[in-house]
Amino acid sequence: MEELVRAGREVAELVADHLSTVGDHPVWGPLDAADRAWLTDQRLPLEGRSLAELVADVRTRVMRYPMGNGHPRFFGWVNSPPSPAGILVEPLAAALNPSCAGGEHAGPLLERNVVRWLAELVGFPHPPGGGLLTSGASMATIVCLAAARHRAARSDGWDVREQGLSGQVPLVLYQSEEGHSCLAKGAELLGIGRRNVRTIPVDDRFQMNTSALSAAIADDIRQGLRPFCVCASAGSVNTGAIDSLGEIADIAAEFGLWFHVDGAYGALGVLAERNRGDYAGLDRADSLVLDPHKWLGVPVDCGCALVRDPALLRDAFSFVPPYLRDEGADDLGWFSEYGIEQTRPFRALRAWATMSHLGREGITGLVNHTTRLAHTLASMIEQADDFELRTPVTTSITAFGYRSHPDDHADRSDELNRQIPTALQHRGRVFCTGTTLAGRPALRACFLNPATTEEDLLILLDEIRTTAAQLTG
Ligand SMILES: Cc1ncc(COP(=O)(O)O)c(C=O)c1O
Repeated sequence: MEELVRAGREVAELVADHLSTVGDHPVWGPLDAADRAWLTDQRLPLEGRSLAELVADVRTRVMRYPMGNGHPRFFGWVNSPPSPAGILVEPLAAALNPSCAGGEHAGPLLERNVVRWLAELVGFPHPPGGGLLTSGASMATIVCLAAARHRAARSDGWDVREQGLSGQVPLVLYQSEEGHSCLAKGAELLGIGRRNVRTIPVDDRFQMNTSALSAAIADDIRQGLRPFCVCASAGSVNTGAIDSLGEIADIAAEFGLWFHVDGAYGALGVLAERNRGDYAGLDRADSLVLDPHKWLGVPVDCGCALVRDPALLRDAFSFVPPYLRDEGADDLGWFSEYGIEQTRPFRALRAWATMSHLGREGITGLVNHTTRLAHTLASMIEQADDFELRTPVTTSITAFGYRSHPDDHADRSDELNRQIPTALQHRGRVFCTGTTLAGRPALRACFLNPATTEEDLLILLDEIRTTAAQLTG
C-alpha cells in the first residue's frame, strides 16, 4: 500500500504538471518512431514491475503524446478538455470499482441523480428511470433506436425480441444528410438495413428539409413499407445546425413515428440565451441522446440516453436470468435492464463531479463563452478576403473555407481546403479538422474549451494562411 501511496503522489504531480503546461506545448505532434514502437510492440513482462517504473514509463512515453483535446487551440471534431472535477474523482471511481449494472450502492443511485440533472438541464421531461449513461452517443443511439423498433413492432402486433425482423414489413428510419454516422450504424446493427434508412436533403442552413421528410414518409407508406422513426439533429457534427424540431415533432406525430433527437454534441446549447428558441420541440422527443463527454467536459467516456417512456425501454432490454435476480431491487430495477451493457463503469461519479463543480451557472457560462467564440470567428471570417463562411453559426461550431484569392477558382480552393487540416495539425500550433459541406471540402472549428480566447482565433486564421502558403509553395 505504501508503494501505491508514493506512486500516487507522483501521479498527482504528473497530472498537475500536464494540466498547467498543456497550453505551452504543441497541440499535437507526430510520434517519435521508438516511442511509437514501444506503444504498439511491447512484450508482456514475465515478472511484474514496480509502480514507480510504470509511472516513469507513463511520464516519458504516454503523457508526451496526447490527442490534443486538452489544449486551448484544439478545435477538431467534438472533443473537449477534461473537467478538473472529473479528473479529481476518476481514481476514486477506480478505487471503488463497482459495476453499476444495478444494486443498492453508491454508483447506480448516483447515476439516477445524474440522469435527472442532465434531463433537467436541457429541458427534457424525465420520468424516473427514463435514461441511463452509456459509453457515448453511438451506444445511446442504439439503445434509443432499439426502443423505437420495439414500440413499432408491438403496435403492429408482433414482438421483435421474440421473432426478429425476418419476414416482417421493412421498418424505415429517416435522418438528414447531416445526420451523424452513428444513426446509420445503429440502424444496420438493429437489422433495419441501410436500404431502409432514408437520407433527407438539407436546406442551405444544413437543416433537414421537412417537406422532403413528409414526402418521403408518404411515399414509403404508399410502397407498403413501415416508417417507424425520424431522427433530428440538435447540433449537427458538421455545422452545429439544429433541425426544426417542432416541425419534425409534428410530422412524427402525424405519421405515428418515434421522434429521436441527436443532441450528442449540441443539446447543451439550449442554455445559450441567443439559441433557446431554436430548440423548441426538443421536449417532445421520444428519445434524446446527449454526451456529457462533449460540451460538458466529463472525462471520456460518458454518453446519455434519455427516453420519455422508461417502461418501454425496460421492455425492450430487460433480461434477468436467475443468477442476476435481485429480490431487494426497487421498482426501477437495474440499469442493465434498460440497455446493452451488463457490467457498467461508475461514469456517474465523473459526471456528477463535473456538474456539481460548475453548477448550472458555470455550465451556462461555458456554453455561452464557446458559442460566442464561434460567432466571433465567423465575424473575423466575414471581414477577411481570404476566407468564406460556409453557413451561419448556430451553436459553437464555425464551418468555413479558405480561398487564396477572393475570385480564386473553386476547384483550387477545394483542393487546398482538403489538404489544410493534416498540414495544419502537423505544424502543431492549432488543430482543426475538415469535412465536406454541400459537396465541397470545408474546414470546421468546434469550440468546447473554457480556456480558449479570441487571440487563439486569430492564431487559427494566421496558421491556416501560413499552411496554405506552404502547400501552394
Ligand atoms: C452529433 C453527434 N452525434 C453522435 C456522435 C457520436 O458520439 P460518440 O462518439 O460519443 O459515440 C457525435 C460525435 O461527435 C456527434 O457529434
